[in-house]
Amino acid sequence: MSTATGTAQDTAEVREAAAQRRTFAVISHPDAGKSTLTEALALHAAAITSAGAVHGKGDRRGVTSDWMSMEQDRGISITSAALRITYDDCVLNLLDTPGHADFSEDTYRVLSAVDCAIMLLDSAKGLEPQTLKLFEVCRARGVPVVTFVNKWDRPGREPLELLDEVEQQIGLRPTPLNWPVGIAGDFRGLIHRASGAYTKLHRTPGGATRAQEEHLSAEQAAAVEEVAWDQAQEELALLEEIGAEYDPETFRAGISSPLLFGAALPNFGVAQLLRTLVDLAPAAEARLDTSGEPRPVDAPFSGQVFKMQANMDKAHRDRMAFLRVCSGRFERGMVLTHATTDRPFATKYTQAVFGSERSTIETAYPGDVIALVNASALRVGDTLYDGPKVQFPPIPSFAPEHFAVARAKDTRTDKQFRRGIAQLDSEGVVQVLSSDVRGEQAPVLAAVGPLQFDVVRGRMEQEFNAPVELSPLDYSIARRTDAASAPTLHSLSGAEVLTRRQDSELLVLVHNKWRLKVIQRDHPELTMEALLAGG
Ligand code: G4P
Repeated sequence: MSTATGTAQDTAEVREAAAQRRTFAVISHPDAGKSTLTEALALHAAAITSAGAVHGKGDRRGVTSDWMSMEQDRGISITSAALRITYDDCVLNLLDTPGHADFSEDTYRVLSAVDCAIMLLDSAKGLEPQTLKLFEVCRARGVPVVTFVNKWDRPGREPLELLDEVEQQIGLRPTPLNWPVGIAGDFRGLIHRASGAYTKLHRTPGGATRAQEEHLSAEQAAAVEEVAWDQAQEELALLEEIGAEYDPETFRAGISSPLLFGAALPNFGVAQLLRTLVDLAPAAEARLDTSGEPRPVDAPFSGQVFKMQANMDKAHRDRMAFLRVCSGRFERGMVLTHATTDRPFATKYTQAVFGSERSTIETAYPGDVIALVNASALRVGDTLYDGPKVQFPPIPSFAPEHFAVARAKDTRTDKQFRRGIAQLDSEGVVQVLSSDVRGEQAPVLAAVGPLQFDVVRGRMEQEFNAPVELSPLDYSIARRTDAASAPTLHSLSGAEVLTRRQDSELLVLVHNKWRLKVIQRDHPELTMEALLAGG
């Protein structure tokens, strides 16, 4: 049987390891520089040796996942995994979020496994739609947010204007930790607000290596930067007047956000971001179980599956569960209990995965992410534990906005079709809805973003040998309803009631928000509850 963390020495070790963990994700709009920042963070921490290794542009080797040819064709990352960066006695676990403009539930689920998020803004664009959506998920889950204003080396907006936008649009109070000298596009360097130290930027062509940084005293800086320095000082005085100081309590509560200016491409300001994560971001802490009780980090092992992925490696046809360690020490080979079924779960094959890079993992601590291979018994949200039983609350499904009827292109593949759809449903690739009217052979697939349908098409063909035809439906809203309201709703035009297979919830699909309003006005007695906002 497995080894529960029991001795005083063991629990002290786990507590120490948890205190060293920073588990976070970057939320941004495509093109804001997430891949570049990821690479710069890893580069600074010397996890990888040459720039480009994460990004995979040109002929440089990429560690961005390439498990599906479709992904390569489009140059997008559909998979999510974790990059581990060791920095100054801390282990930073950077969970990757899919970077495409299109949404999938994966992105949201990743945010259920982090303790902190970096909100990455393009200095010229400020808050963009995808950033806003992801920020709302962070807010709903109480995830504290550090803001990084990127691309300051390019023409952009006024720094004070950007702060104002963040505060006005999303009600998050920015507390700048550094301040730029030189306007966006004529970036000279950064003042570290707490110490007043000035770091001058010296560019390196192409940004392939770390930018040269020069540390100057205030007098030296004033002499070198002249007007730009004076302007920065004026702005700093203004910040002090309005009281935009870092405040740990409001940061933890998601009310304020430490903010940094920088440029990921020339790797400038990235070291400060790493320091901010180490010094200010929350460590792995006790997580609440289904009864609202905190599971202390030094309790026996527990973890929650936040992502399932199949067939990452064509040669292996495997099915992986990504699990965040919530408490205790994980040791490869432990036999855990699957909280949903109370059955044992062996962990002989466990890996750390980032993109196509895999290495076997032997031990892991709270905040770490492990990939369990051949995990066909597991589903998103499941708990695995050792010692006394614990179960973590389910990870909510998001409100789908895209719907399509799936049919097997060839009726002879009926069995494979059903097996494939059931499999994709259990992985949470899409939500599968059905009704007596539509029948087993024509389930409705519901997605947060249409890219999820492409994944279904690709996998049904390649993995299950059952090519599908997807016919889009003219609905854009799903609401939860009940058995009493279902018959009336179903009889109305522009609405249809179906059952969500994964949890047997009754959902009513409606054409658009106008139709929804009319139905609600005419039938106030009918149940139509909003699902968790996904898009
Ligand atoms: P993403 O993952 O968020 O989608 O963004 P990615 O890192 O791919 O960056 C998008 C583009 O922005 C890239 O240009 C990248 O080099 C550039 N970029 C990122 N950070 C900075 C920065 O700090 N300064 C400047 N000047 N550029 C930055 P690209 O790959 O060359 O794309 P393209 O310009 O060829 O379209």
